[in-house]
Amino acid sequence: MAALQSQSKIVRWIDHRLPIFTFMQHELHEYPTPKNLTYWWNYGSLAALMLMIMIATGIFLAMEYTPNVNLAFDSVERIMRDVNYGWLIRYIHMNGASFFFIVTYIHIFRGLYYGSYKEPRELLWILGVVILLCMMATAFMGYVLPWGQMSFWGATVITNLFSAIPLVGNEVVTWLWGGFSVDNPTLNRFYALHYLLPFVILGVVGLHIMALHTHGSNNPLGIDRKGPQDSIPFHPYYTIKDMFGVGVFLTIFAIFVFWFPNLLGDPANYIRANPLQTPPEIVPEWYFLPFYAMLRSVPDILFIKAKLAGVLAMFGSIFMLFILPWLDTSPVRSARFRPIYKWVFWLLVIDVLVLGYVGAHRPEGLYVVMGRIATLYYFFHFLILFPLLGIFERPLPLPTSISAAVTKGKP
Ligand code: HEM
Repeated sequence: MAALQSQSKIVRWIDHRLPIFTFMQHELHEYPTPKNLTYWWNYGSLAALMLMIMIATGIFLAMEYTPNVNLAFDSVERIMRDVNYGWLIRYIHMNGASFFFIVTYIHIFRGLYYGSYKEPRELLWILGVVILLCMMATAFMGYVLPWGQMSFWGATVITNLFSAIPLVGNEVVTWLWGGFSVDNPTLNRFYALHYLLPFVILGVVGLHIMALHTHGSNNPLGIDRKGPQDSIPFHPYYTIKDMFGVGVFLTIFAIFVFWFPNLLGDPANYIRANPLQTPPEIVPEWYFLPFYAMLRSVPDILFIKAKLAGVLAMFGSIFMLFILPWLDTSPVRSARFRPIYKWVFWLLVIDVLVLGYVGAHRPEGLYVVMGRIATLYYFFHFLILFPLLGIFERPLPLPTSISAAVTKGKP
């Protein structure tokens, strides 16, 4: 508050009527943060940056894009060739989606390693899962908009999955399409929702940050702050650390945008959508590959047909994350003090990478076996290992405080 007294008259005049400056002062400047956060804590702010970049570039793309099946593909080509810096805006948006997912996946795995989803941060985590679901829906619908071959056939395959719902499946698919195939009404509603959802994400991110600021950040030791000696103000210590991360991140992002803009995409999407010709391979963007692998790996299970079982596995793999805080029975947060979980965590990372690799290949021969084992392991990991580890694992002794661990007892 004292710092605000020194602000100009105008700032104080506004703040007296609408205390936004006091709020910012409290949340950013004074906000006490654990003194031991590592660079793994940079990814939340990077995700926020990516959300801003995606919304900004998306709005400019929308000014030139036409959501009509006869014009969409050409309007995108026009953006690439004729609109001033259209190529740059589109390449940032296209690669931005990939980078948004990279950052968010790292952010999630960081949370898994350090037990950031545990009490009292369960709702913070759940809001994160809601964000992830919204991001996936947004990315899926966005990919349909250029109306290339992969847009059309990807949309056809994924929307068709809903036909696996017993009894009403076909009606649901017709309802989703707004007709009897993926066509103009489908493109229009996907465009409307693709524009809307990022703002929903923005709102949920607001709640995510609110929940974060209620109890503050977790930290690499996973123990609570015991007093002022364990904290430092967010500004300038972490603003500068976040800004350094932003610099490194934007450099890598720029290398992709300027030198390898199509590396992460599929060349088939530069071919206009043709409903009469199925492409030889229908593959989603890389960030959906692990889930795509699960979808195709599951066989018939008792009376459940493979198609429905695959859909349940794919959606289940994400919905399961909602109950994660209650599946993990260990009282210790950070994997640093969990001698078995420390290794098991990396098994999950490898498992997801294997699933991604399998998802990029035809479901034949060895890939089928790999896909089934990796899918099974994914569920085993969360549903069986998580609860059991908490019971059988003997955690290492925790440090008495963050300060004691950081200074190793020295004053
Ligand atoms: C648009 C996407 C997202 C944005 C902008 C965002 C933003 C943030 C920010 C700024 C932080 C604080 C800095 C940090 O700890 O890195 C944070 C923390 C956190 N986020 Fe996210 N987040 C997003 C998605 C997610 C997702 C998908 C999950 C999980 C499914 C998640 C779970 C968490 C958790 C558990 C924390 C607390 C971490 C800790 O204190 O150790 N977030 N988020």
